[in-house]
Amino acid sequence: MSKIATLEIDGNKYEFPIIKGTENELGIDIKALRGATGGVTTIDPGYKNTGSCESAITFLDGEKGILRYRGYSIEELAEKADFLEVAYLLIFGELPTAAQLEKFDKDIKEESHVDEDMKKILDGFPKSAHPMGVLSSLTSALIAFNPGSVDVDSEEEMYGAIVKILAKFPVLAAWTMRKRKSLPLDYGDNSLGYVENLHKMMFARPNQAYEANKIVNDALDKLLILHADHEQNCSTSTVRIVGSSHAGLFASLSAGISALWGPLHGGANQAVIEMLEAIKADGGDTAKYIAKAKDKNDPFRLMGFGHRVYKNFDPRAKIIKKSAEEVLGDLGIEDPVLDIAKGLADVALKDEYFVQRKLYPNVDFYSGIIYRALGIPTEMFTVMFALGRLPGWIAQWREMRLRKEPIGRPRQIYIGENYRAFKAVSER
Ligand code: SDX
Repeated sequence: MSKIATLEIDGNKYEFPIIKGTENELGIDIKALRGATGGVTTIDPGYKNTGSCESAITFLDGEKGILRYRGYSIEELAEKADFLEVAYLLIFGELPTAAQLEKFDKDIKEESHVDEDMKKILDGFPKSAHPMGVLSSLTSALIAFNPGSVDVDSEEEMYGAIVKILAKFPVLAAWTMRKRKSLPLDYGDNSLGYVENLHKMMFARPNQAYEANKIVNDALDKLLILHADHEQNCSTSTVRIVGSSHAGLFASLSAGISALWGPLHGGANQAVIEMLEAIKADGGDTAKYIAKAKDKNDPFRLMGFGHRVYKNFDPRAKIIKKSAEEVLGDLGIEDPVLDIAKGLADVALKDEYFVQRKLYPNVDFYSGIIYRALGIPTEMFTVMFALGRLPGWIAQWREMRLRKEPIGRPRQIYIGENYRAFKAVSER
């Protein structure tokens, strides 16, 4: 394979190095393009063909449906690891030893208190506020109570900010749910594991003993692992570009939460359940909705289907589909919406429109069915996605800062008016 790419413009030839990653991905390094060509740039809306960085964190192969965190397969991690281990792996690059994991857990627990005045900010929101908007705001507000977490340049300073947000984020996420249910705000219990404590903060009732359910906590742990990172997706790229201006970690994460909220991205898990409920209410007529999804004049999309990278099954969707069947079975839950989802997928996967465009179920297609079985309200589904993606965002932000990446500032091709002289209002 050539190591050089040659570009020819008006008879002039320009050579650019081709870089190869450890999984043999090739990228044309165009860092010198504008200088060499006197100002020619590239244009690539949605960055479908453009790499923003070199990264050692997550590898995806969209054609083969492969997903690995730091070289470990998502299948093995989902089966054998727990979420805190995976968070450590993503952020620091290696699976932790028992001692490292113990210290990580201890350092996080020491930071699990959230300033009581944060409750006053939460109080300002109406109960109807969408939890993603509340969570993004609270994450940004956290900066005011942790000013030392903003200018973090050394690895040690970054570690301090990282354990703070890993500790406080689940508290804020639980608060966003309890606010909607008019429940007292819970601080959880440091004697519990990370995921068990999250579940207790979300569901503990003030007037009854809290009983942990292993099936539920194991399912939640697996879901958080499956959502933990996904290379340069929309929200992660947002975290990176905000962080590239040297805004602090919390500010970068707050921006990432807002990006994840969109229904084309993490917000799809809520949109999938709303779509499946609509199909159920409409008599389960999946053919009608498949037709709507294919109709170019209809804005309806089959939510939970399609992916920018996966042109084969999203490996996470496979795992979540199996887990959904197990969890519902173990909990003795019959959810007709699961059958509708399976029916919809069966039809779509045989339909030429979806086959030709290589549209398969993605991570969001089945996840809401498990969240629902775990008693999580639909409007909280994308918060659950954010809880899982937190260590991935942190890992990507840390890598970008440690590699001293330049501030993100894309170029453009201007298509507006050429120069024109100002006209006084009397002349317009
Ligand atoms: C996530 O990037 C990541 O890694 C994201 C994520 C992560 O872990 O961070 O994996 C999480 O965001 C998963 C995706 C969740 N979103 C949805 O499920 C929403 C529904 N899906 C689509 O909107 C769409 O598939 C995207 C946004 C996911 C991907 O869009 P692309 O890559 O920009 O593709 P496109 O919109 O250009 O679509 C290509 C063609 C178009 O048809 P033509 O113009 O070629 O005729 O496929 C069609 C689209 O109309 N198409 C769909 C469709 N998705 C794409 N048609 C109907 N239903 C769909 N869901």
